[in-house]
Amino acid sequence: MDLINDKIKKRYNRIAPIYDKLEMIMEKGKMGDWREKLWQQVEEVVKKGEERLLEAGVGTGKNIPYYPQKTEAYAIDFSDRMLQEAKKRIEKLEVNVQLREMDVQNLDFPDNYFDVIVTTCVFCSVPDPVQGFKELKRVCKNDGKIFMLEHMRTEKEPFGYLMDSINWISLLSWGANINRRTMENIKQAGLEVVKEEDLFFDVVKEIILTP
Ligand SMILES: C[S@@+](CC[C@H](N)C(=O)[O-])C[C@H]1O[C@@H](n2cnc3c(N)ncnc32)[C@H](O)[C@@H]1O
Repeated sequence: MDLINDKIKKRYNRIAPIYDKLEMIMEKGKMGDWREKLWQQVEEVVKKGEERLLEAGVGTGKNIPYYPQKTEAYAIDFSDRMLQEAKKRIEKLEVNVQLREMDVQNLDFPDNYFDVIVTTCVFCSVPDPVQGFKELKRVCKNDGKIFMLEHMRTEKEPFGYLMDSINWISLLSWGANINRRTMENIKQAGLEVVKEEDLFFDVVKEIILTP
């Protein structure tokens, strides 16, 4: 597993300096709208302003502008080069976020610690996604919520098989799988699905979970 972790990390390190440029068209299109909608729902659960928030797989920090102002915010990623880009964004925005180099499969946080956890387009590349979800379940408070935007394999055939057959291209070029069975992985980790909304067919979903 260490070998696979290193490979995926290296691929994200390699694309980190150009990642935002590569994603620019998607971001200006639907992805930006989907992020905004997700964070509006996060805002609704962090009313007190004393909540603790974790973003897992922060990447270059595209969600950082949306973090609710008063939360105690932590953002982790296992790619140091992606974190460098996120750090630049934090400095520019002058926001208070604790950035940590950490693997979502082995989080260095206590049990039952976060009120809100957010991931966007992360579980396509976590080498052992079920273990990653188990860690989110462990660090999330019992009454906490996990908000996600994730893309996954379609259940509609033959498109699912097509995604299986070309998965190697995205995996080799930037470390992401396009054929993850993410809803199955969530269930295997024992998380409860509160909301599952298809945003782009059944490939891109907004998901809300509780431990
Ligand atoms: C496709 S990028 C998405 C970045 C960001 N969430 C966004 O929406 O722009 C996936 C990110 O997840 C990180 N990642 C993948 N596996 C990880 C793991 N096991 N632990 C921590 N971060 C991970 C990658 O390094 C990368 O920064």
